[in-house]
Amino acid sequence: MSKLIIGNQKMYMNREDVISFVEMLKTVSCDDVIVCPSFPYLEYYKDVVKVGAQNVSTADNGAYTGEVSSSQLQSLNVPYCIVGHSERREYQKETDEEINQKINKLLEKNITPILCIGEKMEERQNKSTETVIKRELDADLKGLSTETVEKIIIAYEPIWAIGTGLTPTSEEIDDAMQFIKNYLKERLNVMNITVLYGGSVSEKNVDELNTIASIDGYLIGGASSKPDAFKYIIASQSK
Ligand code: PGA
Repeated sequence: MSKLIIGNQKMYMNREDVISFVEMLKTVSCDDVIVCPSFPYLEYYKDVVKVGAQNVSTADNGAYTGEVSSSQLQSLNVPYCIVGHSERREYQKETDEEINQKINKLLEKNITPILCIGEKMEERQNKSTETVIKRELDADLKGLSTETVEKIIIAYEPIWAIGTGLTPTSEEIDDAMQFIKNYLKERLNVMNITVLYGGSVSEKNVDELNTIASIDGYLIGGASSKPDAFKYIIASQSK
């Protein structure tokens, strides 16, 4: 079955790169594709593909220099937004409490949050992957109803796999997908949830990843800023 492809273009691209990327997207079918560029480029993509932001403010409005609110995203008809990416958790010291607030702000404006969770290398090595996943899900989804959680997209991204070329084995990825789905089912009676895998997904490993049925889609960083790689990944869904 074809998978949802979400590109997290991080801070990789300038205007010229974006313009040629848009031209590439015009040549492929983007039904199940979402591109999350830097804020200034959201408008460039909107006519060819669904777009998402990479971050949102915890505040609604006011004197918050450099921030972008959920109502501003709504006013631009941005339907998706990444929250809780490990880079923001690390460099911006984002807490689970703030991530929970951001999810609530987005849901109030009918914007779908793409929530990133995942363990560090030492946590995988000492077998606490599941403990980390549970802790993040509990804290980030705190207070949300079953119905609301079903609207969220979860991206499982082991931190050690992001941008490193390393990936867990197919079995480890499948275990994590199943674990997240089962945990949300047991905990909140969530029957329907989209769970993505992210971390060094590329044109080189996507064919193998496509064979893992429990993966509903991918959150793709580096390869989503390379036109040929991203095009290959999109085309791999219709093989
Ligand atoms: P990567 O990034 O594909 O470059 O590993 C994934 C992500 O950070 O979402």
